[in-house]
Amino acid sequence: MKAAEFDEIAPGYDESRGGTERAAGFAGMLAPLLDPARPVLDIGVGTGIVAAELAALGHTVHGLDLSPGMLARARARLGARVAVADACRLPVRSGSVDQAVSTWLLHAGPDNRAVLAEVARILRPGGRYLVIPAGGTRPTDDIGVLVGELEDRLDPDGSRRDGPEWLAPIAAAHGLVYEGTASERPTSFAVSPRAMAESLTRGLFTGAWAVGGEATRLVDETRSRLLALPDPEVPRVRKSADVVLTFTRRP
Ligand SMILES: C[S@@+](CC[C@H](N)C(=O)[O-])C[C@H]1O[C@@H](n2cnc3c(N)ncnc32)[C@H](O)[C@@H]1O
Repeated sequence: MKAAEFDEIAPGYDESRGGTERAAGFAGMLAPLLDPARPVLDIGVGTGIVAAELAALGHTVHGLDLSPGMLARARARLGARVAVADACRLPVRSGSVDQAVSTWLLHAGPDNRAVLAEVARILRPGGRYLVIPAGGTRPTDDIGVLVGELEDRLDPDGSRRDGPEWLAPIAAAHGLVYEGTASERPTSFAVSPRAMAESLTRGLFTGAWAVGGEATRLVDETRSRLLALPDPEVPRVRKSADVVLTFTRRP
Protein backbone atom coordinates (compact mmCIF):
# COMPACT_ATOMS: atom_id res chain seq x y z
CA MET A 1 0.00 0.00 0.00
CA LYS A 2 1.35 3.38 -0.96
CA ALA A 3 1.60 6.46 1.25
CA ALA A 4 -1.10 8.18 -0.82
CA GLU A 5 -3.52 5.38 -0.04
CA PHE A 6 -2.87 5.77 3.69
CA ASP A 7 -3.27 9.54 3.25
CA GLU A 8 -6.73 8.79 1.88
CA ILE A 9 -7.84 6.53 4.72
CA ALA A 10 -6.18 8.62 7.46
CA PRO A 11 -9.36 10.53 8.51
CA GLY A 12 -11.27 7.34 9.33
CA TYR A 13 -8.31 5.15 10.24
CA ASP A 14 -8.49 5.20 14.04
CA GLU A 15 -12.18 4.41 14.30
CA SER A 16 -12.08 1.74 11.59
CA ARG A 17 -9.27 -0.14 13.37
CA GLY A 18 -10.64 -0.47 16.90
CA GLY A 19 -9.97 3.10 18.09
CA THR A 20 -8.48 3.82 21.49
CA GLU A 21 -9.42 0.40 22.82
CA ARG A 22 -7.10 -1.38 20.37
CA ALA A 23 -4.37 1.21 20.89
CA ALA A 24 -4.49 1.03 24.68
CA GLY A 25 -4.49 -2.77 24.47
CA PHE A 26 -1.40 -2.73 22.22
CA ALA A 27 0.38 -0.21 24.45
CA GLY A 28 -0.39 -2.40 27.45
CA MET A 29 1.19 -5.37 25.68
CA LEU A 30 4.32 -3.45 24.67
CA ALA A 31 4.98 -1.42 27.83
CA PRO A 32 6.19 -4.23 30.10
CA LEU A 33 8.81 -5.12 27.46
CA LEU A 34 10.18 -1.57 27.15
CA ASP A 35 12.56 0.40 29.36
CA PRO A 36 10.72 3.59 30.40
CA ALA A 37 14.06 5.35 30.98
CA ARG A 38 14.97 5.18 27.27
CA PRO A 39 13.20 6.58 24.20
CA VAL A 40 11.18 4.32 21.92
CA LEU A 41 11.16 4.62 18.12
CA ASP A 42 7.75 3.69 16.62
CA ILE A 43 8.38 2.71 12.97
CA GLY A 44 5.15 3.07 10.95
CA VAL A 45 3.63 5.17 13.74
CA GLY A 46 0.58 6.03 11.59
CA THR A 47 -1.82 8.40 13.35
CA GLY A 48 0.14 7.94 16.57
CA ILE A 49 -2.79 6.34 18.34
CA VAL A 50 -0.71 3.50 19.82
CA ALA A 51 2.30 5.76 20.46
CA ALA A 52 0.08 8.21 22.39
CA GLU A 53 -1.10 5.40 24.65
CA LEU A 54 2.52 4.37 25.25
CA ALA A 55 3.36 7.99 26.06
CA ALA A 56 0.47 8.04 28.53
CA LEU A 57 2.16 5.09 30.25
CA GLY A 58 5.31 7.17 30.74
CA HIS A 59 7.36 6.37 27.60
CA THR A 60 9.03 8.94 25.37
CA VAL A 61 8.01 7.93 21.85
CA HIS A 62 9.41 9.15 18.52
CA GLY A 63 7.57 8.17 15.36
CA LEU A 64 8.36 7.71 11.66
CA ASP A 65 5.89 7.04 8.86
CA LEU A 66 5.72 7.29 5.08
CA SER A 67 2.26 8.86 4.93
CA PRO A 68 2.06 12.62 5.60
CA GLY A 69 -1.72 12.28 6.08
CA MET A 70 -1.37 9.70 8.85
CA LEU A 71 1.55 11.63 10.33
CA ALA A 72 -0.41 14.90 10.57
CA ARG A 73 -2.59 13.15 13.12
CA ALA A 74 0.43 11.73 14.93
CA ARG A 75 1.90 15.24 15.11
CA ALA A 76 -1.26 16.46 16.85
CA ARG A 77 -0.74 13.71 19.42
CA LEU A 78 3.05 13.60 19.79
CA GLY A 79 4.21 17.04 18.64
CA ALA A 80 7.58 17.44 16.94
CA ARG A 81 8.73 13.90 17.75
CA VAL A 82 7.41 12.59 14.41
CA ALA A 83 8.82 12.72 10.86
CA VAL A 84 8.12 11.39 7.39
CA ALA A 85 10.45 8.50 6.59
CA ASP A 86 10.54 5.20 4.74
CA ALA A 87 10.96 2.17 7.03
CA CYS A 88 13.16 0.65 4.30
CA ARG A 89 15.61 3.62 4.44
CA LEU A 90 15.51 4.94 7.97
CA PRO A 91 17.12 8.37 8.46
CA VAL A 92 18.70 7.14 11.70
CA ARG A 93 22.34 6.61 12.67
CA SER A 94 23.59 3.00 12.82
CA GLY A 95 23.66 1.47 16.31
CA SER A 96 21.92 4.48 17.88
CA VAL A 97 18.52 3.08 18.95
CA ASP A 98 17.85 1.18 22.20
CA GLN A 99 14.31 0.07 21.46
CA ALA A 100 11.92 0.20 18.52
CA VAL A 101 8.38 -1.00 17.93
CA SER A 102 6.10 -1.55 14.92
CA THR A 103 2.40 -2.32 15.20
CA TRP A 104 0.60 -3.48 12.06
CA LEU A 105 3.37 -2.24 9.75
CA LEU A 106 4.95 -5.23 8.07
CA HIS A 107 1.82 -6.43 6.27
CA ALA A 108 0.97 -2.92 5.09
CA GLY A 109 3.37 -2.18 2.25
CA PRO A 110 7.08 -2.21 2.95
CA ASP A 111 9.18 -5.26 2.09
CA ASN A 112 9.66 -7.03 5.44
CA ARG A 113 13.25 -7.98 4.43
CA ALA A 114 14.24 -4.34 3.89
CA VAL A 115 12.62 -3.20 7.15
CA LEU A 116 14.33 -5.89 9.23
CA ALA A 117 17.69 -5.07 7.64
CA GLU A 118 17.23 -1.40 8.56
CA VAL A 119 16.10 -2.18 12.10
CA ALA A 120 19.15 -4.41 12.57
CA ARG A 121 21.34 -1.54 11.36
CA ILE A 122 19.92 1.17 13.66
CA LEU A 123 19.65 -0.90 16.87
CA ARG A 124 22.57 -0.89 19.26
CA PRO A 125 23.91 -4.34 20.20
CA GLY A 126 21.43 -5.80 22.69
CA GLY A 127 18.73 -3.37 21.50
CA ARG A 128 15.18 -4.59 21.08
CA TYR A 129 12.57 -4.55 18.28
CA LEU A 130 8.98 -5.38 19.23
CA VAL A 131 6.44 -6.22 16.51
CA ILE A 132 2.70 -6.64 16.84
CA PRO A 133 1.80 -8.41 13.59
CA ALA A 134 -1.53 -8.01 11.84
CA GLY A 135 -1.56 -11.46 10.34
CA GLY A 136 0.50 -13.42 12.83
CA THR A 137 -1.99 -16.22 13.24
CA ARG A 138 -4.38 -17.22 10.49
CA PRO A 139 -7.93 -18.21 11.40
CA THR A 140 -8.63 -21.75 10.14
CA ASP A 141 -12.38 -21.44 9.55
CA ASP A 142 -13.78 -21.60 6.00
CA ILE A 143 -13.36 -17.84 5.50
CA GLY A 144 -9.81 -17.92 6.84
CA VAL A 145 -8.81 -20.68 4.43
CA LEU A 146 -10.04 -18.74 1.38
CA VAL A 147 -8.53 -15.44 2.51
CA GLY A 148 -5.24 -17.17 3.39
CA GLU A 149 -5.08 -18.65 -0.12
CA LEU A 150 -5.67 -15.20 -1.58
CA GLU A 151 -2.85 -13.72 0.53
CA ASP A 152 -0.48 -16.44 -0.65
CA ARG A 153 -1.39 -15.86 -4.29
CA LEU A 154 -1.05 -12.08 -4.05
CA ASP A 155 2.26 -12.29 -2.18
CA PRO A 156 3.94 -15.58 -3.15
CA ASP A 157 7.36 -14.67 -1.74
CA GLY A 158 5.92 -13.59 1.62
CA SER A 159 7.28 -10.05 1.52
CA ARG A 160 4.17 -8.82 3.39
CA ARG A 161 3.77 -11.76 5.78
CA ASP A 162 4.41 -10.79 9.38
CA GLY A 163 4.13 -14.04 11.34
CA PRO A 164 7.21 -15.31 13.19
CA GLU A 165 7.73 -18.22 10.78
CA TRP A 166 8.42 -15.64 8.04
CA LEU A 167 10.19 -12.98 10.05
CA ALA A 168 12.52 -15.06 12.26
CA PRO A 169 14.77 -16.40 9.45
CA ILE A 170 14.93 -13.00 7.74
CA ALA A 171 15.80 -11.34 11.05
CA ALA A 172 18.50 -13.93 11.77
CA ALA A 173 20.16 -13.21 8.44
CA HIS A 174 20.61 -9.60 9.60
CA GLY A 175 21.82 -10.32 13.13
CA LEU A 176 18.47 -9.96 14.88
CA VAL A 177 17.60 -12.87 17.15
CA TYR A 178 13.92 -13.81 17.41
CA GLU A 179 13.30 -14.38 21.13
CA GLY A 180 9.70 -15.58 20.84
CA THR A 181 6.28 -14.12 21.58
CA ALA A 182 5.16 -12.25 24.66
CA SER A 183 2.03 -10.56 26.04
CA GLU A 184 -0.39 -12.87 24.23
CA ARG A 185 -3.93 -11.47 24.27
CA PRO A 186 -6.79 -13.59 22.93
CA THR A 187 -9.19 -11.83 20.57
CA SER A 188 -12.31 -12.99 18.84
CA PHE A 189 -14.56 -11.43 16.28
CA ALA A 190 -17.50 -12.51 14.16
CA VAL A 191 -17.72 -12.04 10.39
CA SER A 192 -19.96 -13.56 7.73
CA PRO A 193 -18.68 -14.66 4.31
CA ARG A 194 -20.80 -11.90 2.76
CA ALA A 195 -19.33 -9.20 4.99
CA MET A 196 -15.82 -10.47 4.27
CA ALA A 197 -16.55 -10.51 0.51
CA GLU A 198 -17.72 -6.91 0.74
CA SER A 199 -14.69 -5.82 2.73
CA LEU A 200 -12.43 -7.36 0.07
CA THR A 201 -13.86 -5.07 -2.55
CA ARG A 202 -14.16 -2.11 -0.18
CA GLY A 203 -10.41 -2.04 0.22
CA LEU A 204 -9.17 -4.70 2.63
CA PHE A 205 -7.07 -6.18 -0.14
CA THR A 206 -7.15 -3.42 -2.66
CA GLY A 207 -5.68 -1.42 0.23
CA ALA A 208 -3.07 -3.84 1.50
CA TRP A 209 -1.80 -4.70 -1.96
CA ALA A 210 -1.52 -2.62 -5.10
CA VAL A 211 -4.33 -4.53 -6.77
CA GLY A 212 -4.70 -4.36 -10.53
CA GLY A 213 -4.77 -6.75 -13.49
CA GLU A 214 -4.28 -10.35 -12.39
CA ALA A 215 -4.53 -9.42 -8.69
CA THR A 216 -7.97 -7.87 -9.27
CA ARG A 217 -9.06 -11.13 -10.87
CA LEU A 218 -7.79 -13.10 -7.84
CA VAL A 219 -9.67 -10.82 -5.41
CA ASP A 220 -12.87 -11.13 -7.50
CA GLU A 221 -12.51 -14.90 -7.61
CA THR A 222 -12.11 -15.09 -3.82
CA ARG A 223 -15.14 -12.87 -3.42
CA SER A 224 -17.24 -15.31 -5.48
CA ARG A 225 -15.88 -18.28 -3.52
CA LEU A 226 -16.79 -16.58 -0.22
CA LEU A 227 -20.33 -15.95 -1.42
CA ALA A 228 -20.61 -19.62 -2.50
CA LEU A 229 -19.83 -20.90 1.04
CA PRO A 230 -22.76 -22.47 2.95
CA ASP A 231 -24.89 -19.89 4.83
CA PRO A 232 -22.97 -16.84 3.60
CA GLU A 233 -25.03 -14.55 5.87
CA VAL A 234 -24.11 -16.43 9.04
CA PRO A 235 -21.16 -14.97 10.95
CA ARG A 236 -18.32 -17.30 11.88
CA VAL A 237 -16.79 -16.57 15.27
CA ARG A 238 -13.07 -16.35 14.68
CA LYS A 239 -10.67 -16.78 17.55
CA SER A 240 -7.21 -15.37 17.23
CA ALA A 241 -4.56 -13.80 19.43
CA ASP A 242 -2.59 -10.57 19.41
CA VAL A 243 1.03 -11.14 20.33
CA VAL A 244 4.27 -9.22 20.56
CA LEU A 245 7.19 -10.73 18.63
CA THR A 246 10.48 -9.80 20.28
CA PHE A 247 13.78 -9.47 18.43
CA THR A 248 17.14 -8.61 19.97
CA ARG A 249 20.19 -7.22 18.14
CA ARG A 250 23.06 -9.64 18.52
CA PRO A 251 25.92 -8.11 20.53
C1 LIG B 1 -1.96 -0.28 9.30
S1 LIG B 1 -1.12 1.23 9.62
C2 LIG B 1 -0.56 1.03 11.31
C3 LIG B 1 -0.29 2.34 11.98
C4 LIG B 1 0.02 2.27 13.48
N1 LIG B 1 1.25 1.56 13.73
C5 LIG B 1 -1.13 1.62 14.24
O1 LIG B 1 -0.98 0.49 14.74
O2 LIG B 1 -2.19 2.26 14.30
C6 LIG B 1 0.37 1.01 8.69
C7 LIG B 1 1.22 2.26 8.66
O3 LIG B 1 2.44 1.91 8.03
C8 LIG B 1 2.84 3.01 7.24
N2 LIG B 1 3.79 2.55 6.21
C9 LIG B 1 3.55 1.75 5.14
N3 LIG B 1 4.68 1.58 4.44
C10 LIG B 1 5.65 2.27 5.09
C11 LIG B 1 7.04 2.48 4.87
N4 LIG B 1 7.67 1.94 3.82
N5 LIG B 1 7.71 3.26 5.73
C12 LIG B 1 7.10 3.83 6.79
N6 LIG B 1 5.79 3.67 7.06
C13 LIG B 1 5.08 2.90 6.23
C14 LIG B 1 1.55 3.54 6.66
O4 LIG B 1 1.68 4.87 6.19
C15 LIG B 1 0.63 3.41 7.87
O5 LIG B 1 0.63 4.57 8.64
